[in-house]
Parts: sequence; structure tokens; C-alpha cells
Amino acid sequence: MVRFVSHIPGDYMEFKALARTPIFKALSTTGKRIFLPQGIFYWAGMAKKKASINGTIGTAMGNEIKDLLEDGTTGRGTFFIKSMKDHLGTGLKAGNVASYAPIAGLPDLRSTWRDWILEKTGLAGGGMEDAITLPVVTNGLTNGIFFIGKLFADPGDHVLTSSKHWGNYDTILHLNLGATVSTFNTFKGKEFDVEDLGKQVRILLKKQGKLLLLLNFPNNPSGYVPDTTTMKQIASEVDQACKELEKPLIVICDDAYEGYIYDETADTLGLFPYLVERCKDNPHLIPVKLDGASKELLFYGGRVGFMTFAVSPASKGVLEEIKKELDNKLSGMVRSTISNASRVSQELVLQLLSNKVKSFKERGDVINVLKERWTVFMEQCKQIEATSKGIYFDPFQGGFFAFLNLPSSFPAKEIATKLIDDHALGVIPIEKPDIGVNGIRIAYCSMLKSEISSAIDAISKTLQ
Ligand SMILES: Cc1ncc(COP(=O)(O)O)c(C=O)c1O
Repeated sequence: MVRFVSHIPGDYMEFKALARTPIFKALSTTGKRIFLPQGIFYWAGMAKKKASINGTIGTAMGNEIKDLLEDGTTGRGTFFIKSMKDHLGTGLKAGNVASYAPIAGLPDLRSTWRDWILEKTGLAGGGMEDAITLPVVTNGLTNGIFFIGKLFADPGDHVLTSSKHWGNYDTILHLNLGATVSTFNTFKGKEFDVEDLGKQVRILLKKQGKLLLLLNFPNNPSGYVPDTTTMKQIASEVDQACKELEKPLIVICDDAYEGYIYDETADTLGLFPYLVERCKDNPHLIPVKLDGASKELLFYGGRVGFMTFAVSPASKGVLEEIKKELDNKLSGMVRSTISNASRVSQELVLQLLSNKVKSFKERGDVINVLKERWTVFMEQCKQIEATSKGIYFDPFQGGFFAFLNLPSSFPAKEIATKLIDDHALGVIPIEKPDIGVNGIRIAYCSMLKSEISSAIDAISKTLQ
């Protein structure tokens, strides 16, 4: 029997359905232990149903201050600072945003975002909709990476990602969680190195009982987005690897930059749907999608992210039960760390999504500006490249950045220092000789089109 008891006697949770799946096998010690204790929620729920005087809710509320009741409210409302109303537009009600959000997020937002995932990944109508969980809201994607890392990686476990990756992966997974961040070679020439990915997955799955793999397209720092053939190869390779070894492989799709694709040859659906297709008959393949409003809705400070699993219908257990139990574990992670994500931000994201056509049309104006910069950057960056000398850009089809690889004779930090001191150009150096990465990340997302030629010129002069 898989039973986890909280500090409250009699408050426990059984994970009968989840325990029969590879997802359970893949959980870390924390992941196995965590659940959402019912204590306070049980009593609050009982009071809502049966009590005429409710003394269970830990927020200041009442009906004594009439100004604080929304129009037409006859009962009681959450108290808030009255002038908050002056700072909100007509779409947001102070009484709503002042309240706590439910632990896993606003129910309407969760279901609307799920519909959005099905639409943008092409999964809608494809027969795998039932496999997709209701997204759980996180405090931005960073928080989602931390939660999934904590759920599946114990200190000392290897986690795998591409050699070109967002530096915060190391901070979250290694410095915070104590896992070892292993990498596969990202590119072989101008192609994604699917072969090395498969090789490293197999090596690590032989070493340990499960593996957490973190993939990110459009990629930070390179801006790389695979074409559809490569997406399918990646999905096939990881599927084969965990099938062969019969061990769980959790594949996190970090889709932070979803939607920012400028090159027509790049795939627009993301890796997640290809993994979902593959997990249909392979319960060892566990796709997790992390996405959110930060970049996708240009709402960086809103801190709204989502964690969504695909549960293989081939898992031995009732699908809905597995999803419910997984939701309980994710809710336990949220409750024990941030308690719940910002309500005002969730309400705003919900408003933006409820007006999706308008919102995405308005975002389209920003994408068009970035695409213009990308076009100019693509054209002008050729003058810096000297591939035979090891000076070349990784392929970049989308996202916010381009990455210029440099030979070891040009240590990236030295070049970045010269660029800022001599040319007042700021870039991010990434220098990791142990995994063969040395170069500078150039964020053309934050440069004007008219500034690109000066930036390229500065880099060219510095490398002469
Ligand atoms: C690849 C990648 N993933 C995740 C994030 C974090 O997103 P958020 O701001 O939603 O935490 C970033 C932000 O820079 C990123 O580059």
C-alpha cells in the first residue's frame, strides 16, 4: 500500500493508480512523499456546505464596509484597500484579485490554457486529448522547472539537457536541487545532434533507474528551432531509448519562447505533440510541457506559468485517477512552496485568453518587429562568420537570441569585456570548456533594427 501521512493524524493520501505507472517509479524521495494534506480544506469545504457561520476562512471579509462589496453583492466580500479599485481597469474586480487563487490555479484559467495547448500544438481533435492533464499554475516557468526537478530528481541524480542551455537550469537543478547536470552535444555542424542525444539518454538510463531530460525550443541561447522531420526524430529517439531500457524518461519541453518562429522551415507545433503521439503505447515516456505568459503573452512580470503532463493511455491504471493523483502531488508542491500563484496575474492572463484573437493579433505586431530584426541580423551576421576558424553562429530560426561560437583562442568572457569596454556593446558570454561551449549570446530581441549593423561591426572588429 502506498500511503503518505501528513502531520495531521488520519490525513493521508493513497496513490493507488499512480503507483502502477512508471511516473511513480520516476519520482524522487520528495516526489514520492509529497501530497496535499486535506486538513484545512476538508473543514473549509464542510463549512461551505453545512455551516451558517463560517469561521474557517483565513482572510478578512464581511459586509460592514459597503464600498468594498462588488455591485450587486448581497452577502459578504473580501476586504481590500479601497484605492486598489482606482488602479485596476474595468476588466478586473478588486474583490476578486485581492482574494487568494486556488492552489493549482483559477479553474477557468486552467481549462482555458489547456484548450490553448491543444490548439497551438495541433493536439485538438487528434484523439489524445484525454491524455493531457489540466495545467497547474506556477510562478513563471522557472518555478515549473524547479517543481518538476524536485519531483523527479534526487540529489546526485543525473539530469540531461543540451550543451547549449539556459544557465538557470544549472542554478535550479544543480545548485538548488543537488542534481548533476549532464549534457549532450547540441549540434553536429548545423544539425541538431539527435544521435548524441540518444546516446547520452541510454548511457544515463543504464546508470540510474530513471532520467529527467530537459529540452528547449526555440532554444536559449541559440535560437534554434528544429524542422518537423527533426522534431519527429528527436521524439522517436527518446521513445526508443526508454522503450529499450524499460525505464521512465521524463521529457520536459521548456516552451518558454513558443510562438516566436521566423523561419518558414521551422516546426511551429513544438516537441510536445510528437512526444504525446509516441507515449500512446509507451508508458515509460513521460512528456511534460512547461509554458506560460512570460514570453508568450509578453507578460514577464506576471509570473504565470503552467505544468502540463501527458499520461500514456497505456499506463496500467485508470487514466482519470492517475491524472487526479498527479494533480494532488503537483498541488502539494505548490502548497508547500508558494502556496498559490498571483491572483491578479492569473485574472489578467485569463482576460487576455478570453479575447484570444485580439491578444494574439496584438502580439503579432511584436513578432513582426522581431522577425524584421531577425531578417536583418541573419543577413548581416554572415560577415562575422569564419567557420574554418571556429567563428560561426548556431542555426537560429526563432526565439530571442543568436549564439556566436568562438574558438578557444577567443575566450568568450574576454571578448564580451572588449565589446562592452571598447564598443559599449553588451552581450552574454558563455564559457564552459568542459562541455565544449565558448561563445556569446546576442539578444537581438532587445536591439533596434537600426542598431544591428553597429553591433555586428563591433563584433567583427573585436575578432580581427
Ligand atoms: C529557456 C528558458 N526557460 C524558462 C525561462 C523562465 O521563464 P519565466 O520568466 O516564466 O520564469 C527562461 C527565461 O529567460 C528561459 O530563457
